[in-house]
Amino acid sequence: MGVNLSGRSFLKLLDFTPAEITYLIDLADDFKRLKRTGTPHRYLEGKNIVLLFEKTSTRTRCSFEVSGMDLGMGVTYLDPGSSQMGKKESIEDTARVLGRMYDGIEYRGFAQEIVEDLARNAGVPVWNGLTTEFHPTQMIADMMTIREKLGRLKGLNFTFMGDAGNNVGNSLMVVCAKLGLNFTACGPAAQMPDAELVETCRSIAAENGCTVTLTEDFDAGTRDADVIYTDIWVSMGEPDSLWAERIKLLKPYQVNAAAMANAKPTAIFMHCLPSFHDTKTTIGAEIAEKFGLTEMEVTDEVFESAQSVVFDEAENRMHSIKAVMYATLK
Ligand code: CP
Ligand code: NVA
Repeated sequence: MGVNLSGRSFLKLLDFTPAEITYLIDLADDFKRLKRTGTPHRYLEGKNIVLLFEKTSTRTRCSFEVSGMDLGMGVTYLDPGSSQMGKKESIEDTARVLGRMYDGIEYRGFAQEIVEDLARNAGVPVWNGLTTEFHPTQMIADMMTIREKLGRLKGLNFTFMGDAGNNVGNSLMVVCAKLGLNFTACGPAAQMPDAELVETCRSIAAENGCTVTLTEDFDAGTRDADVIYTDIWVSMGEPDSLWAERIKLLKPYQVNAAAMANAKPTAIFMHCLPSFHDTKTTIGAEIAEKFGLTEMEVTDEVFESAQSVVFDEAENRMHSIKAVMYATLK
């Protein structure tokens, strides 16, 4: 049966079948070819979208803006200070207003419940550009990148190192279970994904012939991995006061040369970005001064190595977000 996502919201990958997710990855590949060959694709001319950002962004915002414009749409960006949402107007009312004016709404912010609430009330597709719990558009780009680099998805060993219970770790566990990759979360017990989500993913994985493993053992977690992935140790919306505790907990799970050497020789390194792999950022410099640590979740050596595909991954955010918008708006 053909896949039709027209009119659907894109809030979390638990809502989508493996066939639907694969369709979005295939479509993202098609859009990449069109972009690379300079072929116009203004398929959604006359439509308008609004981007609501309650947290900062480089990749996600720019991907939605450029993709919207490439598809011929009008794009409005609203930052946390420039709308009434939450402060003077409820999410429900905001959704009902924006749904009258726009054909699609992107939301980046806090609780997953907010984006679900927006979608229930907007009457137009709503896309999750990152919440505390999930980051689904990142997943389409990540799976697209892995398939591009390694030629397949099913049966690969995927390891997430570090803060595995964050939005990116949770989402990777879901997408791996859906698409048949063996997912391993390698980190301290305190930072593992929520037990209920792990159980849900284990039963999805069983249907798709793969596994979900949680381990605190660096060697076991990295052994024979095809993909090693990590993310920052303190996410947006979490207090800076957490840095000391997180550094202590997560430093043993830093992606370094030993992790890559323990993985397969063909292994790739991935990161959703932004990354603290040196001291060239304000936070990176502050951490270096306070804790004497010049690289955090990944060493600069691994980040800059030939195995690192992080900038292809970042580019693919644009192609995949375009696919998500096109599939749901066409
Ligand atoms: N990976 C990602 O979502 O990046 P931004 O925070 O820059 O959007
Ligand atoms: N876990 C990170 C992802 C950033 C793209 C955060 O939420 O800040």
